Amino acid sequence: MANVIIVGAQWGDEGKGKVVDIYTEFADNVVRFQGGNNAGHTLVVGNETTVLHLIPSGILHEGKRCLIGNGVVLDPKIFLKEIDGLKKKGYLKDDSQLVVDGNVHIIMPYHRAIDIAREHKSGDKKIGTTGRGIGPTYEDKVGRRGIRLVDLINPSVFARKLKEVLPEKNFFLEKYLGQEPLSEQEIIEEYTAYGERLKLYLGNVSSLLHTSIKQGQNILFEGAQGSLLDVDHGTYPYVTSSSTVAGGASPGAGVGPTHIDEVVGITKAYATRVGEGPFPTELFDEMGEKIRAVGREFGATTGRPRRTGWLDILALKEAVRTNGLTALVLTKMDVLNDLEIIKVCTAYSHKGEMLEEFPRDFEVLKECKPVYEEVEGWQQDINSATTLEELPAQALKYLEMIEKWAECPVVLLSVGPRRDQTIQLKNIFA
Ligand code: IMP
Repeated sequence: MANVIIVGAQWGDEGKGKVVDIYTEFADNVVRFQGGNNAGHTLVVGNETTVLHLIPSGILHEGKRCLIGNGVVLDPKIFLKEIDGLKKKGYLKDDSQLVVDGNVHIIMPYHRAIDIAREHKSGDKKIGTTGRGIGPTYEDKVGRRGIRLVDLINPSVFARKLKEVLPEKNFFLEKYLGQEPLSEQEIIEEYTAYGERLKLYLGNVSSLLHTSIKQGQNILFEGAQGSLLDVDHGTYPYVTSSSTVAGGASPGAGVGPTHIDEVVGITKAYATRVGEGPFPTELFDEMGEKIRAVGREFGATTGRPRRTGWLDILALKEAVRTNGLTALVLTKMDVLNDLEIIKVCTAYSHKGEMLEEFPRDFEVLKECKPVYEEVEGWQQDINSATTLEELPAQALKYLEMIEKWAECPVVLLSVGPRRDQTIQLKNIFA
């Protein structure tokens, strides 16, 4: 039996969806524990592409239970749209395959409106959020003003809570952000209908997972975003509003840390970031363009072009430490196929000083200049390699150097978007 947490070891978009999809074969339960529909997983199965924002990608596997833990913020409209889309494609035949915890906080229309208007008002100080209302929903959760799924499905409780909170939201929207106020009646009508449909998926995720643990089943915890976007350990304030590091899985799903066996961090063979915020290895030249084009680096959620750069070992080591990673998965290695030279940042220079640890002070970080080591590229196609032996010597060397620098073993290597374009070095569930 193994309970495994998968997290992004960079700024998100590391290819977690594909890895979760592969590991789902070994898991009985796949659980999301934080974030919301700011995430986006693109899954390629055969010739069919499915993009999911909220529902764990394990849903494409019949018989695997997918759970949305209490730490997630849920936009009911998006969630129900994903359900309809999946059913249309022939997935989710059995509704008991999907469970949502009653304590998830609901993303309300005023959360989205505030997120978008606040970003607009912030001008060049904006965070570059996905505009999905994530931050404002978590603010209300911590501020004890939130509406949870258990509230939504109870019409009188929902109406009472909305009545309490909406005047404050409308005041802020109108008077500070210059937006139109929202109608209480319209929200009640729309959201009560969502609550009615959502009842079918309501469950106690913590309790269900504990029963599974007792039965010796495997659990896969699917992290969203990446470690450098963590509200505590990321490049604050340019972060998301949840605990994206592995520790967040415990409060976010109601499973204590004593039940976790492995923590796997996903990193690309290079780096990307969407939204604003420091990114020391960012490339602004033709190489950056090339990586974006070859790696198809455009957001699955917003379609925004991603910023691209070389692999940053300081950022990766930060992720190894803050997550307690026991293993790494290296993705998109094929994107570097035809490069003569690959650069890797192994230190920063800051005002004449060499730094070997990722600075926690944002003011320092934004002034850091990357110090690179150069690695010879393999300059051939590795997209059909299925074993390490089939990899060119230089590709193998690149992998081994990353393991050495990060002080963490690579257990899986992805050499293309399809499921079969994967080299498994060790089965972490074994
Ligand atoms: P929010 O999560 O929408 O509040 O956005 C906060 C920051 O996190 C922005 O820089 C977003 O671009 C970034 N972000 C949020 N979700 C993702 C993701 O799934 N991948 C990459 N970046 C993300």
